Amino acid sequence: MVDLTTRIGNLTLKNPIMPASGTFSEELGEVFDLGCLGAHVTKTITRETREGNPTPRVCEVRGSMLNSIGIPSRGVAYFTTRVIPFYARYDVPLIVSISANNADEFARICEEVSVPGVAAIEVNISCPNIEEDGKAFAMRPLSTHDVLARLRRATDLPLWAKLTPNTGETTEVAIAAEAAGADALVVSNTLLAMAIDIRTRKPKLGNLMGGLSGPSLKPIALRMAYQCAKSVHIPVIGCGGISTIEDVIEYLIAGASAVQVGTATFLNPSTMPRLIAELQTYLRAEGIAAVGELIGSVRDGEVADALVFMEAAP
Ligand SMILES: Cc1cc2nc3c(=O)[nH]c(=O)nc-3n(C[C@H](O)[C@H](O)[C@H](O)COP(=O)(O)O)c2cc1C
Repeated sequence: MVDLTTRIGNLTLKNPIMPASGTFSEELGEVFDLGCLGAHVTKTITRETREGNPTPRVCEVRGSMLNSIGIPSRGVAYFTTRVIPFYARYDVPLIVSISANNADEFARICEEVSVPGVAAIEVNISCPNIEEDGKAFAMRPLSTHDVLARLRRATDLPLWAKLTPNTGETTEVAIAAEAAGADALVVSNTLLAMAIDIRTRKPKLGNLMGGLSGPSLKPIALRMAYQCAKSVHIPVIGCGGISTIEDVIEYLIAGASAVQVGTATFLNPSTMPRLIAELQTYLRAEGIAAVGELIGSVRDGEVADALVFMEAAP
């Protein structure tokens, strides 16, 4: 047997595959055994119940998708009374994703979800917030540091900071998150994007703009995961465009200790269990005893043999 376990701070995951926030819910348990996953990650919740953005909230773009779901939330009470008990039946760490409009609200929800049954808190600092005039905390190192330092004081649970590709300061933000006490980085959330219906000349999303996810995001998020892994000492969890086992291996080699799968689950709800099985097969075939041997093994002093310019041409 190959060893699929991976460590994210003080948590040991049975394998490095987990869902991306907002693309996973209890109903997937009707498709496969949720006990097979490395972790369970909830949709982002806020303190109060929220409606989310105007419709349409999703649209397809070539090979990928845009969403402007917003954060429709059933609030903290629903989470503690319904969601935690549901996941308690599985021997899998439960990660709750939280968001808030300002640092005060963030600290309050952080305290409220720091309860038995929660293994770690994923801090969605990639959403627009009021204090920063619609900018996401994770766009800038200072706001990243301020909010995470505040959350660090609010909980003893591990904090995973979810970063955004909508910044020119990826490594600075990563370093700021680590300095403020984050235990891991999730890299990354969606890239701000837009699509227009040329027939009606109207934007395809009710919110005008939305987040790009899926295969088009992968090279960007992979680059970010690599940059982050090089610049911090805490684990990096790769996220963006993962749908094949090659994608998973690439993120691990780039330095990610685990990965999150989002959009691919919408295309095929069995993607995650398939990737876990294929990871096992890959390691065995390559004679690699443990997934840890891959993590950060990129030979970045050298260049791959052939340059393939249009590998994924339509
Ligand atoms: C429909 C949809 C809803 C999402 N909701 C959330 C969310 O609530 N919180 C969050 O942090 N990220 C959310 N995301 C972003 C994903 O967690 C992930 O970071 C992103 O989609 C990139 O991964 P992917 O290319 O594998 O989908 C959402 C993405 C999609 C497509």
